[in-house]
Amino acid sequence: MSATGIASAHRPPGPSGLPILGLTLAIRKDALGTLRRVAREYGDIVRLPVAFQDRIFLNHPDFIEQVLVLQQAKFHKSELTKRITEGLLGQGLLISEGDFWRRQRRLAQPAFHRSRINEYAATMRESVQRHIQAWRGGDERDLAAEMMALTLDVAVRTLFGTTLPTEARRVGQSMTFLMRYQLGRQRSPIRIPESWPTPRNRRAHRERNFLDSLVYQFISERQANGNSKHGTDLLSLLMSAMDEDGTQMTPQQLRDETMTLFLAGHETTAQLLAWTWYLLSENPSHESRLHEELNSVLAGRTPEPADFAKLPFLHAVISEVLRLYPPAYITARTSIAPAQIGGYDFPAGSTMLMSQWVMHRDPRYYDEPDSFRPERWLNGLASRLPSGAYFPFGDGPRRCIGQGFAMLEAAIVIGTLAQNFQFQLVRDHPVVPEPLITLRPHNGIRMTLHARC
Ligand code: HEM
Repeated sequence: MSATGIASAHRPPGPSGLPILGLTLAIRKDALGTLRRVAREYGDIVRLPVAFQDRIFLNHPDFIEQVLVLQQAKFHKSELTKRITEGLLGQGLLISEGDFWRRQRRLAQPAFHRSRINEYAATMRESVQRHIQAWRGGDERDLAAEMMALTLDVAVRTLFGTTLPTEARRVGQSMTFLMRYQLGRQRSPIRIPESWPTPRNRRAHRERNFLDSLVYQFISERQANGNSKHGTDLLSLLMSAMDEDGTQMTPQQLRDETMTLFLAGHETTAQLLAWTWYLLSENPSHESRLHEELNSVLAGRTPEPADFAKLPFLHAVISEVLRLYPPAYITARTSIAPAQIGGYDFPAGSTMLMSQWVMHRDPRYYDEPDSFRPERWLNGLASRLPSGAYFPFGDGPRRCIGQGFAMLEAAIVIGTLAQNFQFQLVRDHPVVPEPLITLRPHNGIRMTLHARC
């Protein structure tokens, strides 16, 4: 056995010797480009030595399906994911495991049933209308920041039954800072303890306290209203949910679930929307086709769930944006039992990396993989692809609980905004994907608005 625990006689290929140092530096400098290059050079299963630890990088849909679906019981969320997110999310749905996770997922699930989600549509439409009330043709706006503020408003109204007007923009800044802070700590060779009062540690502490205070505000407002037993929003369900043994969630559990849904419930959708405006502005012929479809089906109305079956191109646009700029661009698992993947044996404790960014641009599954071509989704591609070739919402039992919510929100926001405005990227504004915990446009997306009606 090697020091990493993988049987050395039979190990997946991967860089060794001096290239390891080069690889670590390359990942730090350009993680997205490096992951694609490694997949091209070494193939479907690669031993990736990063920071003196082997990770196994899976670049074949079948191997991804093995980890996320077929052998999922042998895998937990990775130690790395936990280290990065646990400080903020605690033991919320995203990272909890085992019986505790199953119970919490069962309790939260009713808030995400199709019928329940469709009831959120009216609130979503209202939020969008209110958000763009002050927008005028000729304005220059950062669409990434705007989408964060909008999806935050939607999440707070629908999931927690309250409003948060003044704080909205700061939540986005807090999250950006905390993501950079956590990833920076993981990537740094020297890790200063978080308790030391450096300026960055102090700011991280302040930002966490700020987010915590918001979440506790949602909870105490709901408790003060005394309607936790009757409300049908997510927070009410969580507050009144009883397990079979009659116990309720502790205040800490409630805080962790609320924080998880608060952050997971708006940030990823905001990134999807921001990338949508960027890709449409770069691809005018597709933008026109979308406008035509919206004009003929909606004629100026805001879309409702009943319209969606008549808007196939809108859905194709969303699928294509999720392919090219998946907000969750990498997924990791650590094995808790021996597992065999791709003909190799891995002991418990092996970490598997699966990248949506890499798989979604694999030329074996997508023609012209780097081009924005929504029409590729119009002829049943989704049902022909192996599941591990396209997994923007993950797969298996840990698949995103909010997928239906996100798709409905995206369709309402795009369907409404695209009928009112055309967005043009401000000249020379650099759009650079930044792989934080989610895939974000590093400098935002500055656009000029042109009124359409
Ligand atoms: C475009 C938007 C979204 C994307 C791309 C996305 C992506 C994902 C992915 C890839 C996972 C699985 C992570 C893994 O396997 O390790 C996940 C899980 C999760 N997502 Fe989403 N998500 C989105 C929107 C939402 C929304 C709107 C909510 C809530 C309202 C949400 C809540 C969650 C939760 C709670 C989990 C953990 C589920 C579990 O493990 O049981 N997400 N999401």
